[in-house]
Amino acid sequence: MPPITEIADLKRLYKRRVPKMFYDYAETGSWTQQTFHENTSDFSLIRLRQRIARDMAGRSTAAQMVGQDVSMPVALAPVGLTGMQAADGEIKAARAAERFGVPFTLSTMSICSIEDVAAHTQKPFWFQVYTLKDDEFMKRLFARAKDAKCSALVITVDLQIMGQRHKDIKNGLSAPPKLTAASIANLATKVPWGLEMLGTKRRFFGNIVGHAAGVTDPGSLSSWTAEAFDPSLNWDRIKEFRSWWDGPVILKGILDEEDAKQALNVGADAIVVSNHGGRQLDGALSSIRMLPRIMDAVGDKIEVHLDSGIRSGQDVLKALALGAKGTMIGRAFVYGLGARGQQGVTEALQVIHKELDTSMALCGERNVADLGRHNLLLPKGFEDEWV
Ligand SMILES: Cc1cc2nc3c(=O)[nH]c(=O)nc-3n(C[C@H](O)[C@H](O)[C@H](O)COP(=O)(O)O)c2cc1C
Repeated sequence: MPPITEIADLKRLYKRRVPKMFYDYAETGSWTQQTFHENTSDFSLIRLRQRIARDMAGRSTAAQMVGQDVSMPVALAPVGLTGMQAADGEIKAARAAERFGVPFTLSTMSICSIEDVAAHTQKPFWFQVYTLKDDEFMKRLFARAKDAKCSALVITVDLQIMGQRHKDIKNGLSAPPKLTAASIANLATKVPWGLEMLGTKRRFFGNIVGHAAGVTDPGSLSSWTAEAFDPSLNWDRIKEFRSWWDGPVILKGILDEEDAKQALNVGADAIVVSNHGGRQLDGALSSIRMLPRIMDAVGDKIEVHLDSGIRSGQDVLKALALGAKGTMIGRAFVYGLGARGQQGVTEALQVIHKELDTSMALCGERNVADLGRHNLLLPKGFEDEWV
């Protein structure tokens, strides 16, 4: 097999290996997918300033995210159903992340449970919660994450109502996959994936089935999910969730400077500028384009991270140079996981690290903390074309 040199190599292998239903689930945005596409195309509008003869020996990508040491400021984002992209997927991704020295974030909607991931890893991981109605279930989730020694809580605040992704409806997305004529025909072409899945017991939502009231089997899960999200979410409720966790809290899904200012009032330690990878409000601007105005509003008051659209180490560099202290990757690691399991996630991280390190050097910087606007050339209007 040719060597993996870029994230696109992993994506090609991933598409071949994983059933269409789960490939489509990851590789989609909501409605017209404008925001999903612009998340990546906006990164390529930004250019880098080449500098030379600045002694590039002894470079380091090491940094801190919410006070924790990281080998590069790139965390694995929470991704639901990761255990359907590869058997035991959350455990594999968490292991790759801990060996690489970057945070892994476990989604509430994971296949492997919090306890399961904790039992198969050495270092603490981050846990992500949605803002659900059921207090009892939420408090139990927080307690389970605490017992599992999770080192930060990520509260996702941009999904009180779910965006529509056409392909998931058309494919009848479910875990495990529902057997229809079309899905059986497709599964027949994915034998290695199927054999791997038959070899694991982890095929349902591990944090929910058996834990949420009334959800005792996968069949009762879909009605629970429809009811569980809280359309009446407000800042008081976010503040309440914050008060239930005594460690670092990261609010994920801020895309507007006014919301970023509100986030200061709830006692969060960091925010993630994110549009959920283009999966929620189609027509919203890309995260990277919104970053400068959010930095202007709150950048000196709270740690700012960014996700949505990162497919390379150069994208990470651009986000850091615009002021982010950290980044998250979603699909970039999912491609690796689906393509080649734990090894594939490691390869995704290696690719991104190498691109970040080399680009930093060619921009004349030795440390990620020194990156700044001086490393970039932005097209006129990048920050204020849309008002
Ligand atoms: C397949 C998929 C599932 C996701 N599930 C979750 C989730 O359970 N919780 C969450 O907070 N974000 C979820 N996200 C959003 C990611 O955490 C992240 O914001 C997004 O993937 C970043 O964009 P990128 O994929 O372009 O890197 C999901 C994203 C994808 C692609």
